[in-house]
Amino acid sequence: MSTCLITGVAGFIGSSLARARLAAGDRVRGIDNFSTGKRENIAEILQQIDFRQVDLIDFSRVQHVCQGVDYILHQAAIPSVPRSVEDPLESNRANVDATVNLLVAAREAKVKRVVYAASSSAYGDSPTLPKREDMLPNPISPYAVAKLAGEHYMRAFWRCYGLETVSLRYFNVFGPRQDPASPYSGVLALFITRMLQGKTPTIFGDGQQSRDFTFVENIVHANHLALTAPGQEVAGQVFNVATGSRVDLNATFQILKKLTGYSGEVHYESERPGDVKHSQADLSLAKKHLGYEPTVGLEEGLQQTIEWYRRESAGVSA
Ligand code: UD1
Repeated sequence: MSTCLITGVAGFIGSSLARARLAAGDRVRGIDNFSTGKRENIAEILQQIDFRQVDLIDFSRVQHVCQGVDYILHQAAIPSVPRSVEDPLESNRANVDATVNLLVAAREAKVKRVVYAASSSAYGDSPTLPKREDMLPNPISPYAVAKLAGEHYMRAFWRCYGLETVSLRYFNVFGPRQDPASPYSGVLALFITRMLQGKTPTIFGDGQQSRDFTFVENIVHANHLALTAPGQEVAGQVFNVATGSRVDLNATFQILKKLTGYSGEVHYESERPGDVKHSQADLSLAKKHLGYEPTVGLEEGLQQTIEWYRRESAGVSA
């Protein structure tokens, strides 16, 4: 039985990964500092995991938590472009310093592999679509720079110390348990919860910006493949994880109208600084080396997500 450490386990992606690793028969250790994660995301699995409230900035605690760990899924981050524009120091600490601490501790503890939640934001505003991993990165926000720095550290720890690392560039992930409550929340969590409450969503810009929105189950699947693929196929590498298609925000709003039954309008405001115009992944590399194929498409993922938020709000008000 392997021990898998999940950083950011109380986040919506980390908590989904924890459930999947438990189902795969792993022993799961999870850490979170609750800066963006939520206790309720892990409430129902708390008895099955070894949870520790640890901040990755605290190096001696990170060293301790890595003892006896076979694999790490590193999800902990402050995942927001606008929040990083407002506070680049915070973004750097939580996304870069924390990652370096984890890598040093992982190496000391002889961890077998670290899989890292990298970000499609690394591509920035380069016009070519779809985005391929061999394109020159062009990060345009502090968040994107920080996430890209993490990738480079991953590769450097493979090259310099032989620690097996894999970076997965997630493209706009959504799904159950994503926090809709912050102005920095992902657009789909915000739109769905507002529309279910009959409240007007806001589109920043003209709504023609497009994204490769990826349902969280695809991310869970890719992490499983990244953990289990032979080292010679994946160590030191970076892979896109997405659906390979894109949809603009105006069309997304129309799809959500149909799925939620919302009959109101959408409000437009000026574009957000640091925003990327279009994003879409090329999945060839992930297919070739990980055997990755998306398993859940946009509409099906949206349906499952909407159902989850509906049940949550019914539970809360019951
Ligand atoms: C970026 C990254 C993504 C990363 C995420 C972390 C890109 C292409 N993607 O997402 O990989 O995981 O940061 O947060 O860089 N919007 C509205 N109304 C709202 C909220 C957002 O119109 O109420 C717009 C934004 O201006 C943006 C789009 O929706 O154009 C998506 O925004 P968001 O969900 O915050 O994610 P990204 O910034 O694209």
